[in-house]
Amino acid sequence: MSVLSGKKVLLGITAGIAAYKTAGLVRLFIKQGAEVQVIMTPASKDFITPLTLSTLSKNPVHSTFYDKESENELWNNHVELGLWADLMLIAPATANTLSKMVNGVCDNLLLATYLSSKCPVYFAPAMDLDMYIHPSTKNNLEKLQRFGNVMIPATSGELASGLVGEGRMAEPEDMVSFITKDLLSKLPLKGKKILLTAGPTYEAIDPVRFVGNHSSGKMGFAIAKTAANLGAEVILIAGPTAETIQHSFVKRIDVKSAEEMYTQAHRYFKDTDIAILSAAVADYRPKNVATQKIKKKEATMEIVLEKTKDILASLGELKEQQLLVGFALETTNETENAKGKLKKKNLDLIVLNSLQDKGAGFATNTNKITIIDKNLSAQTFELKSKDAVAIDIMNAIVAKL
Ligand code: CTP
Repeated sequence: MSVLSGKKVLLGITAGIAAYKTAGLVRLFIKQGAEVQVIMTPASKDFITPLTLSTLSKNPVHSTFYDKESENELWNNHVELGLWADLMLIAPATANTLSKMVNGVCDNLLLATYLSSKCPVYFAPAMDLDMYIHPSTKNNLEKLQRFGNVMIPATSGELASGLVGEGRMAEPEDMVSFITKDLLSKLPLKGKKILLTAGPTYEAIDPVRFVGNHSSGKMGFAIAKTAANLGAEVILIAGPTAETIQHSFVKRIDVKSAEEMYTQAHRYFKDTDIAILSAAVADYRPKNVATQKIKKKEATMEIVLEKTKDILASLGELKEQQLLVGFALETTNETENAKGKLKKKNLDLIVLNSLQDKGAGFATNTNKITIIDKNLSAQTFELKSKDAVAIDIMNAIVAKL
């Protein structure tokens, strides 16, 4: 999955001949899974039509503060557009627009949106050779980068004027790969290795039966996705679950029993930076596993169970540099029990779910958690989707690094 997947991209187009290439640019962003909105300066419409861009972006194109032709005369709120975006790219960025951006001029919707945006802003200069090497342009490019904007440098080549030299806007493919690399390099968990257990375990009684639980794995898989989106390399050790995940940063290892999960967790723990054990591991397993299917005979039957190894506690004993995060699913005396587990298992954080809370726990799409840290300070969150809970958990982890 691309780092651009799900990202909201605001593409600002100014009046340079390279504007014709932005049709391809919009398509590339969409192909990466991004959502695109386009703002054009009025003059840029001479180079490419808004219809092309609205068709490709599947969104209306904005270019004025309000739509004169529309019956409703809707105000295009530049503040909202700026806040909507996860990133803004101004391409092509002409010498004129660059100089206005430097000086805070906002005489069109694009410039007003740029001034109100809070997201990372990329700009791709495009102009003729002599304009590009003019000291005032050089000065503007430097200033814009000092403001925190990221420049996608112009390349050398044949220019529309027929001159050959610097000033050509980077090709759409190169802009997308530049932004992808830049975003990846700034992710908070870049280079971090995460070990994550998820889902239930099944403990065999005989070849067709098992002792298990209702864990769906949804919470663990949501954490895997969130962690990978933050740049971490995730080893996801998953018990039997219907959940799926497609992410180039996630390596999934399927296991069935607590013993298999234990073996895999220990295999990867040494090189791990963060271990998150969200699996609902069976605490007991049948002492003797029948090799053949057990036939029904008596009115009652007994299965002798023995304790499984506590994976989390065993990692707590081995812990060195790793940040260790456990889960606690409780029904009574929740906070005290969770704090007890945090201490006993030598954890850095524990995520508490209470089955007293409606919408929390197994097989739902929502969860309600409290995160308790080593100093026993607790933060309770509202009922949220498991995806949103995963973000809260990962934020708490990032804050501890
Ligand atoms: N856990 C584990 N291995 C086990 C049992 C639990 O790694 N054999 C982990 C879970 O993944 C979870 C945490 O331990 O992160 C809490 O598990 P829980 O079953 O609630 O706690 P227990 O210590 O087993 O206590 P109890 O069942 O008595 O509540």
